[in-house]
Amino acid sequence: MPKKVLANADLEKMVETSDEWITTRTGIKERRMVAKGEAASDLAVKAAKDALADAKLDPQNLELIIVASITPDMQFPATSCILQNALGAKKAVAFDISAACSGFVYALTIAEQFIARGAYKNALVIGAEVLTSITDWKDRNTCVLFGDGAGAAILSEVKSGGILSTYLGADGAMGELLYLPAGGSRIPASAKTIEGRMHYLKMRGNELFKIAINTMTHSAETVLKQAGLKPHDIDLVIPHQANTRIIAMVAKKLKLPMDKFYLNIERYGNMSSASLAVALCEAVKEGRIKKGDYILLDAFGAGLVWGAMIIKW
Ligand code: ACO
Repeated sequence: MPKKVLANADLEKMVETSDEWITTRTGIKERRMVAKGEAASDLAVKAAKDALADAKLDPQNLELIIVASITPDMQFPATSCILQNALGAKKAVAFDISAACSGFVYALTIAEQFIARGAYKNALVIGAEVLTSITDWKDRNTCVLFGDGAGAAILSEVKSGGILSTYLGADGAMGELLYLPAGGSRIPASAKTIEGRMHYLKMRGNELFKIAINTMTHSAETVLKQAGLKPHDIDLVIPHQANTRIIAMVAKKLKLPMDKFYLNIERYGNMSSASLAVALCEAVKEGRIKKGDYILLDAFGAGLVWGAMIIKW
């Protein structure tokens, strides 16, 4: 995580908002922000080194690196290639994916295919975001929600357990509910796009709210059914951290208590693809996940794209 903390009180000085509004509507108290010049790959390198140390794995033994990000260092080369070079992971194939807040679940699912097929033995999957680089600090509807961070996981073959079931979905018809208008081939960067604040993300949060609840509930039910499990079999749900009220509604629909849901939104806000990755790492470090536990990852985001996964630890 970047060191700099941006608290709700800091945002009160920037836009017409209040700690009370942000806390009660979203559950967020503070978020992290990169230092000037720090990019997604800088966060990704640190997260990757921690994960490699935890797994006691030499970067030379990595065969695949996937970075999920909607705020890569640049359009190209891929942030995963920048990371591959920084790690000295010479043997690894490297590519990025863009699946917004579902990026980590999408990337884990892709890596799992390569490992299950026996193509690669060790994969590094990262969610890394510098969302503050595409945040409009004049838009109170969005600027209070997002933060920066990165989380990493190493995937390797297991004899039993591991990823039990996965489910991915997409609906491009609702893409304009959350998007970044300019800077791509449709509307290249120009003085006009800068003036029009078109390089910042735009979100119709209120319209996304209900869709997020219903979709995350559906994804959870689908992976549970596929794995032959019931909601109460799950030891810990790690949901995408967009809004505590969304998570509470999903918990209610699944008839699960909130203490089965891992939350770090209060400290970090919404970090898109990094949210689930960081939450998973912290849950492990805090001892919330024990050997043999059933873990449910549940994500939803811009695209729209969604995905869920059950892991037997
Ligand atoms: N401070 C004070 N007032 C505010 C703020 C703010 N920061 N932001 C909005 N308001 C006001 C609005 O202007 C509005 O005022 P009005 O009633 O006078 O028009 C009022 O608060 C209510 O606004 P809503 O948008 O209806 O607020 P809502 O309760 O829906 O909360 C939020 C907004 C937090 C964005 C919520 O809708 C949400 O979490 N949506 C889902 C986001 C999501 O899941 N995104 C997808 C994943 S993110 C990704 O993929 C990168």
